[in-house]
Amino acid sequence: MSTITVAAVQTSPVFGHVEANLAQALALVPAGCDLAVLPELFATGYQFRDRDEVASFAEDLAPGAARGPVLGALAGHAARTGTTLVAGLVERDGARLFNSAVLVRPDGSHGTYRKAHLFLDEKLLFDAGDLPFPVFAACGTTVGLMICFDWVFPESARSLALGGAKVIAHPCNLVLPWCQEAMVTRCLENAVHAVTANRVGSERRTGSKLVFSGGSQVVAPRGERLARLPATGTGAAVARIDPGAPGTQLTARNDVLADRRPELYRG
Ligand code: ACM
Repeated sequence: MSTITVAAVQTSPVFGHVEANLAQALALVPAGCDLAVLPELFATGYQFRDRDEVASFAEDLAPGAARGPVLGALAGHAARTGTTLVAGLVERDGARLFNSAVLVRPDGSHGTYRKAHLFLDEKLLFDAGDLPFPVFAACGTTVGLMICFDWVFPESARSLALGGAKVIAHPCNLVLPWCQEAMVTRCLENAVHAVTANRVGSERRTGSKLVFSGGSQVVAPRGERLARLPATGTGAAVARIDPGAPGTQLTARNDVLADRRPELYRG
């Protein structure tokens, strides 16, 4: 058994106040944890008015490119503390703009995921992700990335589990009420842990007011909530987990991954 400490960090960003949002989020990362997950678009806020505004916050995340302010701050914090960080930010790749997440290791290396399933006005603001759901070796285990609304599509978590993820890092800006419950099932059906980091507060920068639902949580492979925050307020939901346990064998005769029957499934 090899355990690690994971944290879902719940923040209350103010749109456009990147420096203050970064400082708040990094100050909430618990000292000594191995993996901390921050919300989707945690440094910028969520409700962009148009693509030009999205572009003004975008960073080039290509390996070897000069680090932007958000990736730079994450890398600096990871190097100083030894904590692997997962967080959402705006990515630019040429003319394309992605709602992305990075996993940043203490050695300065990082991996990227581009949100596949865009929610509501995100479809007008971002390009849809074009990369497979990634699984990265980090903090002594395997960490898969998905972002917020990806939870609606069971294939997201299943792809990560089939790719070997033991822990799903899940940055969110949740506004619908169902995700925190649904992630219990995602964990059970894939025998994975999930660290869902959501924000709180609200934004009304376009026609509709969005209220973000908090409830950041760490869920274990048999569906137990190991830690959970309320719907309001900032903080960190922290749990000590054994990423490989209890594994995919649900009963003596049932394995949630090995017993799949893909030849019978549509789609
Ligand atoms: C969402 O995907 N931010 C709801």
